[in-house]
Amino acid sequence: MTTPSTDTGPAVLKLIGNTPLVRVTRFDTGLCTLYLKLESQNPGGSIKDRIGVAMIETAERDGRLKPGGTVVEATAGNTGLGLALVARAKGYRVVLVVPDKMSTEKVLHLKAMGAEVHTTRSDVGKGHPEYYQERAAALGHEIPGAFYANQFENPDNPRAHEEGTGPEIWEQMNHDLDAIVVGVGSSGTLTGLTRYFRKVQPALAFVLADPVGSILAEYTRSGVVGQAGSWAVEGIGEDFVPPIADFSAVRAAYSIPDEESFGTARELLRREGILGGSSTGTLLASALRYCQEQTTPKRVLSFVCDTGTRYLSKVYNDAWMVDQGLLHRREYGDLRDLVSRRAEDGSVVSVASEDTLLTAFHRMRLADISQLPVLDGSRLVGVIDESDLLLTVNADAKRFRAQVASAMTPAPSTLPPQASLADLRAMLDRGLVAIIADARGFYGLITRTDLLNYLRRTLA
Ligand SMILES: Cc1ncc(COP(=O)(O)O)c(C=O)c1O
Repeated sequence: MTTPSTDTGPAVLKLIGNTPLVRVTRFDTGLCTLYLKLESQNPGGSIKDRIGVAMIETAERDGRLKPGGTVVEATAGNTGLGLALVARAKGYRVVLVVPDKMSTEKVLHLKAMGAEVHTTRSDVGKGHPEYYQERAAALGHEIPGAFYANQFENPDNPRAHEEGTGPEIWEQMNHDLDAIVVGVGSSGTLTGLTRYFRKVQPALAFVLADPVGSILAEYTRSGVVGQAGSWAVEGIGEDFVPPIADFSAVRAAYSIPDEESFGTARELLRREGILGGSSTGTLLASALRYCQEQTTPKRVLSFVCDTGTRYLSKVYNDAWMVDQGLLHRREYGDLRDLVSRRAEDGSVVSVASEDTLLTAFHRMRLADISQLPVLDGSRLVGVIDESDLLLTVNADAKRFRAQVASAMTPAPSTLPPQASLADLRAMLDRGLVAIIADARGFYGLITRTDLLNYLRRTLA
């Protein structure tokens, strides 16, 4: 058996930190020069690898984590990945509690690393037993030999940034830096950097990048803890003031709406070729606002806190962005506005009547949908759903090789774009998907999920 306290883990752990800096050249930064530190290049894909090492190795040294022990944490995903990377390599069990708004990619990545993931509600606040930090604290008590890393109160979290991130930045910027734009989740980054720069460059301004809905920006301005709302950006923004937070060097704070955060992250990829997560959009949007407001040249730094590969199904997925109301398409003022995959955008997933049922099934699975329009060219000739497939292949799986034409519903009933919501509901109530088409052509399908998304958008 290996002894965790002497096992330094795989060599990849040595790649944590010393992340590169890149200058932003394709955005308007006013009189300022803006750099991004690519924390996305850490082996676990985020800035949190740094605190994963710091929290685990200190706990090993002072005996809070013993061989055979379990690491427990409440995490929006990245801290879990950092902890899992280090802890699994050293032979510990890892139990994580994540709020249910977290992206599927993060959860799959955590599970692939061998972590046990407990999902909890993201619509409840501190004090509620289902709140992710309360759940993790409870597991920390229940599991024998558990070390609850608790990034929100653990001094090794800011220390990792005071001793690692801070000196790296100062060195890379040739000891010439005026401002750092940072987001706050646990506040480890802000607090650690504040402590380091107080020693080497006390005039350095910190700029808080906060999602609309978080209480932190207002708290730094007025000291008032307001009512928290909700936001879709992951990893930053809070509904409480983290106990380890040091906001003393924050000189400006921006509240960025989700739409601007997501849009800015997408622009960063298109213009600069940098694939960051949703919080990178919040940080960059704040950094751009700050830079454009300066009346004298300044050297400014911000972060790409995590890699965008773990948000491909969200930030970089047009259909999800439209569903969330974060991306706007042409509006018609009729049922076409409810179609999530529009024929005119080329985003309809369809089959031809000559395709095989196997092709139809693969397309349904890939797009995670249960029915497909059957199009010959742009002409709608039928619709096929999972029950049509099942009916045909049930007795003989070889019939997967039969043509779609043999199993589809030909000439299905359609609704014109001008039909009413009541007509739509009546069609959906009959268990059917609504096909939106008229004499001029086929526009797309409306499913129950599309209608639910539409109704939710009217809430906002
Ligand atoms: C994805 C992500 N997680 C966490 C943080 C903040 O880290 P901390 O917990 O140190 O406040 C950031 C900062 O921008 C972030 O983008």
